Amino acid sequence: MKRPLEPFRIKVVEPVKLVSRQEREKLIRAAGFNIFKLPAEKIFIDLLTDSGTSAMSDYQWAGLMQGDESYAGCRNFFHLKETIHDIMGYDYILPTHQGRAAENILFSTLLSKNDVVPSNIHFDTTRANIEYLGARAEDCVIEEGLNSELKHPFKGNLDLQKLNQVYKRYGKNKIPLVCLTITNNSGGGQPVSMENIRQVAEFCRRNRLLFFLDAARFAENAYFIKMREKAYGKTKIKQIVKEMFSYADGCWVSAKKDALVNIGGFIALKDEKLFQKLQNLLILREGFPTYGGLAGRDLEAMARGLYEVLEEDYLSYRIQHTAYLGNLLIAAQIPVVQPIGGHAVYIDVKKFIPQIPQSQFPGQALTVALYRQAGIRAVEIGSLMFATKNPKTGRWIYPKLELVRLTIPRRVYSASHLEYVAEAVIAISKKREQLKGLKLVYEPPFLRHFTAVLKEIE
Ligand code: F0G
Repeated sequence: MKRPLEPFRIKVVEPVKLVSRQEREKLIRAAGFNIFKLPAEKIFIDLLTDSGTSAMSDYQWAGLMQGDESYAGCRNFFHLKETIHDIMGYDYILPTHQGRAAENILFSTLLSKNDVVPSNIHFDTTRANIEYLGARAEDCVIEEGLNSELKHPFKGNLDLQKLNQVYKRYGKNKIPLVCLTITNNSGGGQPVSMENIRQVAEFCRRNRLLFFLDAARFAENAYFIKMREKAYGKTKIKQIVKEMFSYADGCWVSAKKDALVNIGGFIALKDEKLFQKLQNLLILREGFPTYGGLAGRDLEAMARGLYEVLEEDYLSYRIQHTAYLGNLLIAAQIPVVQPIGGHAVYIDVKKFIPQIPQSQFPGQALTVALYRQAGIRAVEIGSLMFATKNPKTGRWIYPKLELVRLTIPRRVYSASHLEYVAEAVIAISKKREQLKGLKLVYEPPFLRHFTAVLKEIE
């Protein structure tokens, strides 16, 4: 299998250590079988997330020294504003400390109780921010996007018929905005086509609905469009990105992904009136509008990262790097979501360990096994994260997809690290019938996967 070639070399290293199997056993028990509660220093390869875990470039680090820490009007804000205008075409920006703060400000302004927000698939914080306000988050991804084996170039696409049904059921007045997550994180890091973005925008224009992109991984999405959508094979990434954003009224971005920084986010939009409303809430919740919950230096690193992520040799490496791990697993017949997404490889747990029912959190059981086996941390995107209780019957409704995500931080791990991960998954697959289900000992009222405590079912 062809190893991906890194378009960078290493200037600084950070040691990692594999603690003994005995210690790992002690630690996972002390963490209540919840990998979020493990000390990161006790992890050898951390594939929990690609969020805030990127290695910044020397150019970004140099930018930190040029942070202007003035309370109001710092120069880095203007640099970021110009950058976002140049890349995305939006006139108004509001920096936030990360993506979910942007979601909170946007939704608190736009949503009322019992409103409905359709998307392809809402990410967990997006869904939680909507539900916390008493509104409904409706997932309308195409059926292909819910079938891990089916190959389709744009499994993140939104099904317009499903959107139309939601529109007919609830009516215009109940739908303050429609969103698209690019790439579709909870559905396997799958891209959305330009055609689909255009169609959703057209639907929203016709029905006078606001249309926003949840654009954490916008550059990876653009690269897939270039690779897979005929009309764009020769188009420059920068142009593809500009066109993607041109169809939407605005976006929110967790800059911890494709902006290649460790902290940051923003809302960007076209409409001045909405901007003014959001700005007031930003001041209340995050900070003055020219820093919005970040230091001047963070804004500078973000502005620089937003350009770096558009470099085609970087994106080509990035997508190949993730696919390298995916292909090692496919070659060993491990069931993964295909085609391989942009930022992660997703194991289809229902197929990998069919003997553990969703009520016993098989995805979580697999994350526990990965830590035990090799000191690897992955994350469950399945019944622990997304199961909901039917308020009438009190019965649990489990998500269609039960996944474990092996998320690849940007510019951090080598191909050898990925080979080590593949070996660990393959070793577990050979003894998969020994894996044990889990039960909850403690769960908070929402976003339970972060702090839940579990116990193994003997
Ligand atoms: N939207 C998407 C599509 C995301 O993937 C995330 C975060 C957010 C919004 C929220 O942004 O973390 O900066 O507050 N995803 C991370 C992940 C946490 O691991 O996939 P945030």
